[in-house]
Amino acid sequence: MARKITKAIFPVAGMGTRFLPATKSIPKEMMTLVDRPLVQYAIDEARAAGIKEFIFVTARGKSALEDYFDHAPELERALRKAGKDEQLELLKTTNIESGGIAYLRQHRAMGLGHAVWCARRLIADEPFAVMLPDDVISGDVPCLQQMVEAHEEVGGSMVATMDVPREMTGSYGILDVADASTDLVAARGMVEKPDPLSAPSTLAVIGRYILTPSVLKNLDAKKPGSGGEIQLTDAIAEEIREGRPVHGLRFTGQRFDCGSKAGFLQATVAFGLAREGLRDEFGAFLKQLTANAG
Ligand code: G1P
Repeated sequence: MARKITKAIFPVAGMGTRFLPATKSIPKEMMTLVDRPLVQYAIDEARAAGIKEFIFVTARGKSALEDYFDHAPELERALRKAGKDEQLELLKTTNIESGGIAYLRQHRAMGLGHAVWCARRLIADEPFAVMLPDDVISGDVPCLQQMVEAHEEVGGSMVATMDVPREMTGSYGILDVADASTDLVAARGMVEKPDPLSAPSTLAVIGRYILTPSVLKNLDAKKPGSGGEIQLTDAIAEEIREGRPVHGLRFTGQRFDCGSKAGFLQATVAFGLAREGLRDEFGAFLKQLTANAG
């Protein structure tokens, strides 16, 4: 049986330029979907999958993230005094056991692969997860949990994957597979942001990974790939070349690309409509809006 996954890396060093000017002073991972920052969704999903140690790879200007996961004694005191137990409970979801969270800095923006490599000493010799908080995934069983369950069967490395239109393949890591007919597919190659004309398939990598420590060794070479950056995709492709198993899991659920404005708005609508206590009022508004537009 594969070893339990208890550590997750959250690469959160990106500048979020697509959301300027908002991200001038707020990390993009702190942008709010309904009433929670993006990073909270990732943390909740990680917890559901059994993650106990949370490793954030940050950069300058991201201190709001560290404060978010800290206690807020004054606020907690005020809520307790006012008898606001529900809000106090909510705040608890933002706390992580002391020693269970680590922040380290990626000093230069050298790509996703480099960000993950920065955490190598905290991972040592065990399989670990990587979660990109920009990719928000809704579903009955959280995506990372689906992956952990599949990983218990097959081991090795695993990426979340979904089918995308061929013209979109240039925006993703793309799997090369011999047989794409099942939900769990064995990869025989992987390429970062290929030209759609030569993309080996239309199966895209989505921001959830379970990786073996040898991927970190592959990243030691620090070889720049697509866009001149050190790519995680290339280090995973290296695993395949060396004969180690890499699978893609077509997860069940809906993925929102919250790194883009349209994706973020779609997520806002979907999560707003799914939220108890908001659904009726918000749904009625949307109905009216679409009726007027039609
Ligand atoms: C990153 C990865 C890419 C993956 C994507 C998923 O790209 O490099 O392989 O398909 O996340 O969201 P980015 O979106 O950071 O350019």
